[in-house]
Amino acid sequence: MNLRDRRIQYETAGLNFEDLDESPIQQWHAWYIEAVEAELPEPNAMAVGSIDSDGMPDSRIVLVRGFDDDGLTFFGNYNSAKGQQLDANPVASAVFPWIGLHRQVRVRGTVEMLPGHESDAYFASRPRDSQLGAWASPQSEVISGRDILNERHAEFAEKFAGVEVLRPPHWGGWLLIPDVFEFWQGRPNRLHDRFRYRRDDVTQEWMIERLAP
Ligand SMILES: Cc1cc2nc3c(=O)[nH]c(=O)nc-3n(C[C@H](O)[C@H](O)[C@H](O)COP(=O)(O)O)c2cc1C
Repeated sequence: MNLRDRRIQYETAGLNFEDLDESPIQQWHAWYIEAVEAELPEPNAMAVGSIDSDGMPDSRIVLVRGFDDDGLTFFGNYNSAKGQQLDANPVASAVFPWIGLHRQVRVRGTVEMLPGHESDAYFASRPRDSQLGAWASPQSEVISGRDILNERHAEFAEKFAGVEVLRPPHWGGWLLIPDVFEFWQGRPNRLHDRFRYRRDDVTQEWMIERLAP
């Protein structure tokens, strides 16, 4: 179908102010559970935006691996493009594209590296081949072909043969600490529901406002 003519009506029950949890993290979690129940693909995938040293935005999908009242955690290579960007400019945006439910959640905030012991604990829970992959892949660097990856994977498989694969020092987690959370629910006639949570500067309490779609 012509791109111009692709258009669907979002026949959903909508999102009401009364139904929102006072904590945006808990509201995110309630919607995450609904995304899981709806069997959306990779419901914990979010597109993370960061800013490079020229002030240019960049974004990529990562998987959320944990959450608590402080924020959302995700993992990757600290030397990668995102690692360097988040190190130099520790702010990020994120969006969960839960399109199958006519929903999106947007987050903006600051980013901190997780303490080593938390990265160790998550790394230890990963399948062994993924652990070796973290050693083998110089993420975001230019490489000559796949062979180098396979060779390095085999090299590290040999190095760690019979012993636990340690977390590489260049691999770990980040905590995205939200300042702003927005929940979007598609409604008919493009009159969607949008609610934004942001922290009150003085009280640090979350305030919820309805935004025009
Ligand atoms: C579904 C999906 C899940 C992904 N999960 C992660 C992840 O959890 N961590 C990660 O570093 N990269 C993940 N990636 C790969 C990133 O999108 C990206 O290619 C990689 O992190 C390098 O990005 P950078 O060069 O901007 O650092 C995932 C990609 C997809 C499509």
